[in-house]
Amino acid sequence: MKKLANKTAVITGGNSGIGLATAQEFIAQGAKVTITGRNQKAIDEAVAQLGENASGIIADSGSMAQIKTIGEQVKAITPNIDIIFINAGIGKFNSVEQMDEEMFDDIMDINFKGAYFTLQQLLPLVNEGGSIIFNTSINAHIGMAGASVYAASKAALLSLTKNLAVELLPRKIRVNSVSPGPVGTPLHSADKLGISDEQLQQMGEGILKQIPIGRFGTMEELAKVVTFFASDDSTFLLGSELIADGGMYNL
Ligand SMILES: NC(=O)c1ccc[n+]([C@@H]2O[C@H](COP(=O)([O-])OP(=O)(O)OC[C@H]3O[C@@H](n4cnc5c(N)ncnc54)[C@H](OP(=O)(O)O)[C@@H]3O)[C@@H](O)[C@H]2O)c1
Repeated sequence: MKKLANKTAVITGGNSGIGLATAQEFIAQGAKVTITGRNQKAIDEAVAQLGENASGIIADSGSMAQIKTIGEQVKAITPNIDIIFINAGIGKFNSVEQMDEEMFDDIMDINFKGAYFTLQQLLPLVNEGGSIIFNTSINAHIGMAGASVYAASKAALLSLTKNLAVELLPRKIRVNSVSPGPVGTPLHSADKLGISDEQLQQMGEGILKQIPIGRFGTMEELAKVVTFFASDDSTFLLGSELIADGGMYNL
């Protein structure tokens, strides 16, 4: 029996990286998946790649106006949801001296506020026994120069994980988090991180030295961790976090 047979899932930021790999794994495990994103072409390409059990909708996690449409958009595809993977996020880095309000708001609006209100808008559709998973980050646990605002946005998701796990218990909805260490995804590009190619190379080399297993994680490895939380393999886990980081935090 497939682990997610007859389940329906929504994955935010599902057109790329960990979100796309998780959509692939969910579908392989029998689920029907709706992915969200902010770019129609990228969504269309991902849905074509994922096949007939995938749908796509546009919902920019940084826009309250778009977030407010997400419930209706999903409802037009499926009346109910069993799994929500709140994954959409950006990584932008700057020192406290250099940080400006625009970058601060961008990070917080997408990674935290967008995550919170997306979940709020989708909650009425979630079935009893549903599973919510936040994608946080190892940065919520460690100190890294330039990462303060990104780390705070992810630490906020860990706080949500515990508080919402209590709040949603009467509806038998479980809330858990996955906190990846460095994973080889399109996020690690100069363009997405807002840094130069030289800075990207230095950053990559510096990070690699801190990963005991000696390599970045793969998107597929993360997809399997998310699938564990999404499936009935984890029915005794509430408000919990799995750090998937090649030993970076624990060793
Ligand atoms: N890769 C890592 O090392 C790592 C480590 C720890 C945590 N994470 C977290 O993992 C999550 C996925 O990241 P990834 O590494 O898979 O990067 P990715 O390939 O860039 O995927 C991020 C996804 O989120 C989407 N997204 C970004 N901003 C959005 C917005 N405003 N509205 C809707 N969708 C938006 C992206 O869309 P576009 O393609 O249009 O940008 C993309 O589909 C993020 O929350 C990230 O913080 C990643």
